[in-house]
Amino acid sequence: MAIQSIRASQRLDSRGKPTVQVDLKSSHGTFRALVPSGASKGDYEAVELRDGDPSAFQGNGVTKACDNVNRILGPKVIESGLDPARDLKKIDELMIRLDGSADKSKLGANAILAISMAAARAGAAAQAVELYEFLAGEGASPVNEYVMPVPFMNVLNGGDHSGNPMAFQEFMIAPTGAASFAEAVQWNAETYATLKGIVQDKYGMAATGLGDEGGFAPPIGHPEEALDLLVAAIAKAGHEGKIKIGIDPASQSFFQKDGYNLGFKTGKPNILDAAELGELYRQLLDKYPIVLLEDPFGQDDWDAFSKFNESCGVELVGDDLLATNINRVKEAVQKHACNSMLLKVNQIGTVTEAIAAAQEAYSAGWSVFVSHRSGETTDDFIADLTVGLRTGHLKSGAPARGERVAKYNRLMDIEDDLQLRKVSVRYAGASFRSAHH
Ligand code: PGA
Ligand code: ZN
Repeated sequence: MAIQSIRASQRLDSRGKPTVQVDLKSSHGTFRALVPSGASKGDYEAVELRDGDPSAFQGNGVTKACDNVNRILGPKVIESGLDPARDLKKIDELMIRLDGSADKSKLGANAILAISMAAARAGAAAQAVELYEFLAGEGASPVNEYVMPVPFMNVLNGGDHSGNPMAFQEFMIAPTGAASFAEAVQWNAETYATLKGIVQDKYGMAATGLGDEGGFAPPIGHPEEALDLLVAAIAKAGHEGKIKIGIDPASQSFFQKDGYNLGFKTGKPNILDAAELGELYRQLLDKYPIVLLEDPFGQDDWDAFSKFNESCGVELVGDDLLATNINRVKEAVQKHACNSMLLKVNQIGTVTEAIAAAQEAYSAGWSVFVSHRSGETTDDFIADLTVGLRTGHLKSGAPARGERVAKYNRLMDIEDDLQLRKVSVRYAGASFRSAHH
């Protein structure tokens, strides 16, 4: 199946910043992809190309990245005659070669990824399968039974995603006790609505405004205040014991050369060294039903990660630490730095490299946690990716804001689809960390 045309256009993400959209046409139809963008980005991520022209979108335009699709990447991919149904990896490799840099900064990871995602969709259509089935094949995942993920929903936003004093970025609810994905979504939505009432009663109507990922951002600063709110909302919604908690402090965003500054948004420094911060996490893990801790330390703080991992009873996820990069995963495995990889496709810039990093993580006995970005689009690619790779859990923000809900709605479609087709499917539930086995 040949690709007939590839066209890129500048569109907006959920923060109103430009992003790349690609329409890829084959004899099976036109396939679209839109690229997300992070705020708390690590230094080891592939580079999204921005115009840097201050007269448009504060320099954030992506017209050069679109040109690179329209003039270089698109024509070369078409000319290669590679078939997305069979050769997605080769298409990705060709684009990596055309870029030639180590971090995709020449042509732009945003340009390359948009084509890679659209090509995956074209490949699925050519094989007459759903995208999740196609991606399962790319990931060599067993497909005798599909696993629906536990949705970790970020309902309290802090860090770089909101204007409150909270240094920790994400407080997520995870309905591990639900019986299906649809029930998990319902419980989370009920808890989110209950949380809104609690926030309003405690902090007033003005405190119910939302952060970038759809969670509330009340004027709280200490993580215990956030966790107390979650525990209260879970209990009041009637889901105590059945909804667990995940935290992503995204600590790289408050790491400074003298330590971790929990007061970074308040103008009043509150600096902890890695040992003190580790002690704070241990206290939180003892006191609250936390099952997942992401990026507790900065992207280069290997020692702190490895030490904490020695006696860590929960899922310890590397995000900025790993950047969905197979080489960093290998380094982290060797250093015993964590036990799970966050998977963000735009951190590495192609679909097949992200899948290869996930396979590396799996082969080390780790789990994989699929993630959106704080700057998202309505593209729901990651919903299919999490099912295709049997990751057992994903995060896509709160059950609010269209760009977040798009992924959860697609996942409910997938669950319905599998049930209607009588394909074996189960909800990952409490065993979300080992769903891929
Ligand atoms: P980002 O945040 O998309 O702003 O990087 C998400 C995360 O840190 O997990
Ligand atoms: Zn993170």
